Order: sequence, then C-alpha cells, then structure tokens
Amino acid sequence: MNESKEVVITSRALALISHKLKTPLSIINGYSEAILSQSKKEKFSPFTSKALEEINKQGSRMSLLVDKLMSFNKVTSAETEGIEKQPVYLKNLIKECATKAISQEEETAVPEPSQEDATIKRGTFVEIDCPEHLNVTANEEMLRLCIQELLANAIKFNNKMEKIIKVQCANHGDSISISVRDYGAGIRPQDVNQIFEPFYQVDDYFTGQISGWGLGLPMVKRILELHNGSISVVSDRGLGSIFTINFPVL
Ligand SMILES: Nc1ncnc2c1ncn2[C@@H]1O[C@H](COP(=O)(O)OP(=O)(O)O)[C@@H](O)[C@H]1O
Ligand SMILES: [Mg+2]
Repeated sequence: MNESKEVVITSRALALISHKLKTPLSIINGYSEAILSQSKKEKFSPFTSKALEEINKQGSRMSLLVDKLMSFNKVTSAETEGIEKQPVYLKNLIKECATKAISQEEETAVPEPSQEDATIKRGTFVEIDCPEHLNVTANEEMLRLCIQELLANAIKFNNKMEKIIKVQCANHGDSISISVRDYGAGIRPQDVNQIFEPFYQVDDYFTGQISGWGLGLPMVKRILELHNGSISVVSDRGLGSIFTINFPVL
C-alpha cells in the first residue's frame, strides 16, 4: 500500500473510532451528571457518592481525550489552501483559552493529597501581557487549539501548588509571536525535539500517570505549518519552559 493511501486509511480509522466512542461517552457522562445533581437532594451513601464522582471525572477525562484525537485528526488532514483565515484579536482569545484550560484542569485533575497548611498559596494564575488591539490573521478554531494546548501543558507538567503562567504577545513587524511561559517541570535537552513527534510523552517525571496522547504539540506544530508559521521552545529541567509560536503578518 502506498504511503498516502495508508495516511487516508489511518485518518478514516481515527475519525471512525473517535465518533464511535463519542456517543456512548456522552450518554455515560449525561447520566452521571444527572445522578450527581440528584445526589444533592437525596442522600447517597459515601461509597455511592465517591463512585459517582469518579465515574464523572473519568468520563470527562475520556471525552477530552476523544476530542483531542478528533482535533489532531482534523488538523493533520487539513491543507494550507483549504483553511479559512480571518483577523483574530489575541487578548480576548487568550483570556477565553485560559479560563477553559483552568476549568478543564480542575475537572479532570487527579486529586493531590490534602494539605492543611493555609499559608501555602495554591491555584493557577495566567498573566497576559498583550496589546489590546493586536490581531493575527489565522484560522480562529486552530489558533484556539494551539493556545489551549500550550496552556494545558503549562498547567499539567507542573506539580507546584501555585502555578504561574505568563503569556506574552509581541508584534515584530513581519510576524506576531505568542509565548507561553511556565515554571514547572521543564524538559531535558534530549527530549526537546522528540516532544513534537506524535505519541511521544516524557514519562519519568510523572511515573506513567500522564493523561493525554502525546498528540498536542504535533498538532500545534501542524497548525503552524498550515499558517506558514513556526514553533520553538526554550526549557530548563526543573525551572520551566517557554513555548513560542510565530505567525507571519499577511
Ligand atoms: N510545558 C511543558 N513542560 C514540561 N513538559 C512538557 C510541556 N509541554 C509538553 N511537555 C512534554 O512534551 C510531551 C508531549 O506534549 P503533548 O504533545 O502536548 O502531549 P500530552 O500533553 O498529551 O502529553 C508531554 O508528554 C511532556 O512530557
Ligand atoms: Mg498536551
């Protein structure tokens, strides 16, 4: 079988698998939501409540995984000429993406052992430094996927109680950059190029517990290719990372 035929079949298989998973998952999630809201009126046993919460959380995680598979598939099969572009204002978009990334993290995070020390600051804070009217000409849905993925990674690969993420946008005349900086796990030099390969996850830091497919950064890279842009990373193990995406000014 030639390579392009194989790519088409793989892409169809991924689309089919994700669609087939989506329907039963939305039923599981819908019912678990309904029973959970009922549990606020009726008194369920601690075991039942715990089990329900767990079903709900794992259902949300799985939905997120399926959505990611679908987005990756859509983006890999897109062609540069076929995508619609329009001016997108960055500041608002980044704010929306930050709110979503934080709420998704809260919904799906594995609970940490409880710490009673009230002096420890905790929470995720996204600081945005972006000129009010700065915009890029891009496919809005794809740009949103890029920013959300970089923010989700900045939150996920960081086990600090207080997570600070800084997003900075800049106009360089012929290009516009958006950088996402975190102070989390960081990446070793030998892993830096690999993380853009599909299904690659650096696994020693989180002892096999990493959620996700290892498809986020390859998806972001592909989106930048579709826009004739680029992505780069500067990272220090233990100190954090800065991912920068660049869009040409059209
Ligand atoms: N901000 C970050 N800090 C530390 N490691 C990161 C960061 N972003 C990505 N990585 C590493 O790159 C790998 C690939 O990222 P990604 O493609 O988004 O996949 P996923 O999020 O599904 O693991 C991650 O598993 C992680 O090891
Ligand atoms: Mg990711």
